[in-house]
Amino acid sequence: MRKTVIAGNWKMHMTCASAKEFMEGFLPLFKDLPSDRNVVIAPPFTAISSLATIIEGTQINLSSQNVHWEDSGAFTAEISPSMLLEHNVRYAIVGHSEPRKYFSESDEQINLRAKSAQTHGLIPIVCVGETFEQRERGEAERVIRRQVEQGLEQTDLSKLVIAYEPIWAIGTGKTCESNEANRICGLIRKWSGFNDLLIQYGGSVKPGNIDEIMSMSDIDGVLVGGASLDPQDFARIANYKIR
Ligand code: 13P
Repeated sequence: MRKTVIAGNWKMHMTCASAKEFMEGFLPLFKDLPSDRNVVIAPPFTAISSLATIIEGTQINLSSQNVHWEDSGAFTAEISPSMLLEHNVRYAIVGHSEPRKYFSESDEQINLRAKSAQTHGLIPIVCVGETFEQRERGEAERVIRRQVEQGLEQTDLSKLVIAYEPIWAIGTGKTCESNEANRICGLIRKWSGFNDLLIQYGGSVKPGNIDEIMSMSDIDGVLVGGASLDPQDFARIANYKIR
C-alpha cells in the first residue's frame, strides 16, 4: 500500500506573520488524519524557521522549494541541504516548472539536486510536466519521459516523490482531466520501473476536484499551489474522501 503525500507549495507567498496566521486557521481543521497521509508545506525560506516551531508535534512536515547539490560554497541565492536539515525540513521540491522556465534549470541540474537531497536524507519531490504547445504537438509523453529518465537517474526511487504537473494546468484553473492525469502517472510508474513510486498530480487542485483526483489508481497525492494558501481549502484537500 503506497502512502499519500498532500503537499502545499506556497511559492513566493507568505511572510512569517501570515504563515503564523495560516497555521492558526489550519491546525484545528486537520486533526485526526489517517496516519498514512503525509501533509507537507513548502513555505518560502524565510518562514521555515518560525513554521518549524509552530508545527512541532503535528502531522505536518516541511519542504523547501529547492536545494543545491553542494553543501556550502559560492552559490549566491542557493540553499544547502544542511541549512534545511537544521530546521527539520524533510522534503525538497526540485525541478518545478517555474525555475525550469524562469531560470533555465536543466534536467541535469535537477538530477544533481535530487541526488544531493537524498544523500542528506531529504526526500526530493521531482516535478515534471509538459507545456500546452508540447501537448498540442503530441510531444507530451516524450518530454515527460525524458524529464523522468534524466531527473531520476541514479536516485533511490523508494525515497523520492515525483509530481506530474502539466504546465498548462498550473495556476490557470484548467485541471488536467483526472483520467488523463492518471494515465500519465501510470506511464511514469512504468517508465521508472518501480511499482511503489509515489506520484503526485499538481495543477489547479481545489476542494472541488480533490476527491475525484485522489480516487485515481495511479495518483498517490497532490502538489497544490494557490489552494494551499487558504487554510479552509487546504484542510479540505488534506481531508479528501475517496469516492
Ligand atoms: P496551482 O495549484 O496554483 O495550479 O499550482 C500548482 C503548482 O505549481 C504546485 O507546485
